[in-house]
Amino acid sequence: MKIALTGKGGSGKTTIAAHLGRVLSESGNSVLLVDADASRNLATLLAHEDTTPINEMKDVVNQRARIEGGLVNLNPYVRDLIDKYAVDVSQNLRLLVIGGVEKAGMGCLCPENSMLRSLLRELVLKRDEIVIIDMEAGLEIMGRGTVKNVDTILVIAEPGYGSISVTKEILKFAKEMGVEARVVANKVRNKSDEKYLSEYFGPMQTIPADEGVRESSIKGQLLSEGDFYDSIVKLSKKITR
Ligand SMILES: Nc1ncnc2c1ncn2[C@@H]1O[C@H](COP(=O)(O)OP(=O)(O)OP(=O)(O)O)[C@@H](O)[C@H]1O
Ligand SMILES: [Mg+2]
Repeated sequence: MKIALTGKGGSGKTTIAAHLGRVLSESGNSVLLVDADASRNLATLLAHEDTTPINEMKDVVNQRARIEGGLVNLNPYVRDLIDKYAVDVSQNLRLLVIGGVEKAGMGCLCPENSMLRSLLRELVLKRDEIVIIDMEAGLEIMGRGTVKNVDTILVIAEPGYGSISVTKEILKFAKEMGVEARVVANKVRNKSDEKYLSEYFGPMQTIPADEGVRESSIKGQLLSEGDFYDSIVKLSKKITR
């Protein structure tokens, strides 16, 4: 099962990815959490902030994705890198930090983006475990063939107008690709928050605003009980059903 999280900046993608990974691994699944964000927030939340993203490993990138004469290998071999660089977080739960998109341009054919694209392709097409990808940018860095093989895109939205257009765009893209996308409303404080988003996107899973989330993240911990945690358990069941 391959799950990609995306959505507006700051909506809670990283927080939800980490907790979802924890919950799914606790129920006995082998889970690989993938940090595809240059700022490594997922790694930080899981107390692995010192991990170097693969697409920032100069030697590896040069060796695999650079061809003499300044050319870029668009299909670098990356299969061995996943088990080599994934780190253990807890039982059944591993983390792979692959890095973010080079901002020079999404379409930029630089070696770093080529590595990222190939790693995402390998993770989505070839792995047997549950792979949860925390995407900083949009899904565009994944080639079409990769996106089509993602089982579920979780679009994390929060109550507020800022989420609406981003969520709409992602839903449109997912529809074009023929991939299932679920909107998840995060940081929901009350019925009116819930109603705000469901008026645009229909009924959806909600995750409550919980001050404990931020507090525990500062301590480098994940929550393991309470309403927030329960809603993640519920989400995990819906996804894997
Ligand atoms: N349900 C929640 N209740 C309260 N605070 C939350 C909740 N979910 C996330 N947060 C807080 O919101 C902030 C942003 O969360 P997070 O980093 O997970 O978002 P993100 O979408 O990954 O952001 P970015 O776009 O920068 O990657 C964090 O401080 C986090 O602790
Ligand atoms: Mg994030």
